[in-house]
Amino acid sequence: MLKLGIIGTGWISQQFVEAAEETKSFKLTEVYSRTEAKAKTFADKFSGDDVYLTTDLDKFFSSDKFDAVYIASPNSLHYSQAKQAIENGKQVIVEKPSTSNVHELATLQQIAKEKGVFLIEAARHIHEPIFKKVQWYLEQNKAALSGATLSYMKYSSKYDAYLDAQNPNVFTTTFSGGALYDLGVYCVYDAVVLFGEPNQVTYDAEILSSGVDGSGSLTLKYDDFDVNIIVGKTKNSFMPSEIYFGKKTLLMDSAGDITKLQQSDEKKRLSPIPAEKSDNPMDSEAVEFARIINENDQEKYAQLSRYARIVNRILEHARASAGIVFEADKEN
Ligand SMILES: NC(=O)c1ccc[n+]([C@@H]2O[C@H](COP(=O)([O-])OP(=O)(O)OC[C@H]3O[C@@H](n4cnc5c(N)ncnc54)[C@H](OP(=O)(O)O)[C@@H]3O)[C@@H](O)[C@H]2O)c1
Repeated sequence: MLKLGIIGTGWISQQFVEAAEETKSFKLTEVYSRTEAKAKTFADKFSGDDVYLTTDLDKFFSSDKFDAVYIASPNSLHYSQAKQAIENGKQVIVEKPSTSNVHELATLQQIAKEKGVFLIEAARHIHEPIFKKVQWYLEQNKAALSGATLSYMKYSSKYDAYLDAQNPNVFTTTFSGGALYDLGVYCVYDAVVLFGEPNQVTYDAEILSSGVDGSGSLTLKYDDFDVNIIVGKTKNSFMPSEIYFGKKTLLMDSAGDITKLQQSDEKKRLSPIPAEKSDNPMDSEAVEFARIINENDQEKYAQLSRYARIVNRILEHARASAGIVFEADKEN
């Protein structure tokens, strides 16, 4: 089993390590945190005594106690941390979005290639069986495909802190935050995996005083149809996501965390489409990432790397169209 080191001790790291250990894909062996107490609290949730702890990033990356690192720090830190991991010969799984911009992703993919290690963006939902059911449905009905509306808008638990001037990472340009990079990235992944690269990208956003987008409307133009994407962290939406096939429609209860699929037929009659859904939405990606690394599956890796590049390009074009600039952009 691959030995796993993690960066970032938030709830998402816990969920990933639970998925990794439950599916026997990876075994947690080292934790980096800025504070020893947090590293220990995190490790204790797993097999604490066998897990090494460190608060020193250089020591962490030069450690021989793990093979692969899962990076779940704020977005703008992914680049330097992934770079250091690759330079130290680690396999890298990095949370979405893996980088702040196209230049950073191109650099990381190039040095990963030179070093002969994997750099995998953790777009968890595209690996789930329920998403594969959507791909299957699209394949059956492709000739009638006529567009989609994808929605992922949730009032963030951190928005109150933002309104209270506490500056949470996800609402700052310093940490490459905002609705599009945090939630919109799931919808953009849906569009890229299902429909490919669009010809044109436009983003109309509600820009907050911190400079990031609180919510917005993204349009992706393809040859014969449009994909309209609604994202937000400042309000709650209950709209389903839909893919249109003329008179028929496929309905998904969410664009980023699909739990239910339905179809509407030519007479607008709704019926469920049965699909598998794991309790932990990160199970499927943990199994798949371990498989890619263990089997050295270069074909699948090339496909995932291509998706990551297209998604990253769309995000960067969308930001340009809405006038959103990250501090990370000024560093390149
Ligand atoms: N796939 C998914 O379903 C999913 C869900 C949520 C988030 N994410 C992604 O996971 C990543 C982390 O998101 P999050 O909301 O957990 O972020 P976050 O709470 O801002 O930070 C995550 C961790 O990074 C470390 N950290 C926080 N601020 C830092 C700073 N200023 N400098 C260095 N380290 C810092 C902290 O760990 P220590 O205190 O231990 O150092 C913290 O627990 C993002 O890329 C996000 O997009 C993915």
